[in-house]
Amino acid sequence: MIEDIKEEALQKGVPIIKDEGLAFLLNFIVQHDCQDILELGTAVAYSAIMMANLNEKITVDTIEKDEKLYKEALKNISDAGLNDRITVHFMPIEEFSTDKKYDLIFVDAAKAQYGKYLEQFLDNLKEDGYMLFDNMIFHGLIYEVETISSRNLRNLVSKINKFRDMVQKDERFDIMMNDNVGDGVWVLTRRRK
Ligand SMILES: C[S@@+](CC[C@H](N)C(=O)[O-])C[C@H]1O[C@@H](n2cnc3c(N)ncnc32)[C@H](O)[C@@H]1O
Repeated sequence: MIEDIKEEALQKGVPIIKDEGLAFLLNFIVQHDCQDILELGTAVAYSAIMMANLNEKITVDTIEKDEKLYKEALKNISDAGLNDRITVHFMPIEEFSTDKKYDLIFVDAAKAQYGKYLEQFLDNLKEDGYMLFDNMIFHGLIYEVETISSRNLRNLVSKINKFRDMVQKDERFDIMMNDNVGDGVWVLTRRRK
């Protein structure tokens, strides 16, 4: 069933997490016993369902602004019998606000906004919580910005590079940089004082 969701997403060109990044994410959740998860960027709920399926203690709040994808996500979650543990918030991430604290915030939406998302959701991270960012090498394009002819794409990739530099200098965080996993997966935690 989950394989059908994946195949359909790939056929329709809906971006979903790569196998290697997903394996890392799921393993990370198990290793660190993450139970309360916030996901930025639902698409068709492929990664949300995979996370929730790990064990029954896991709940996922996930945010999606595209109505077609949101409806598809609701259907897939219902078919998977996960209505009680996955909540999809149909809205722009920028408008989402909650007092809830999470063990893990999985950031998989607008790459140009990663810096903003970090600040927006930092207060929603438990003291020992993790923020995990996918697409940190953006198909390898971060290594060859000068060769990109499309101006929009070049700007986007430059923003990812800026975010990479910025978080590495930010003394609030410890970072696990996994550029060789999937599309580049970085994990941030608060530095202990
Ligand atoms: C890479 S996809 C998510 C894939 C999903 N996590 C998975 O692996 O199955 C990113 C999604 O984020 C959504 N998105 C991008 N910017 C957003 C925003 N500002 N607010 C809400 N959703 C956004 C897009 O519509 C897209 O569906």
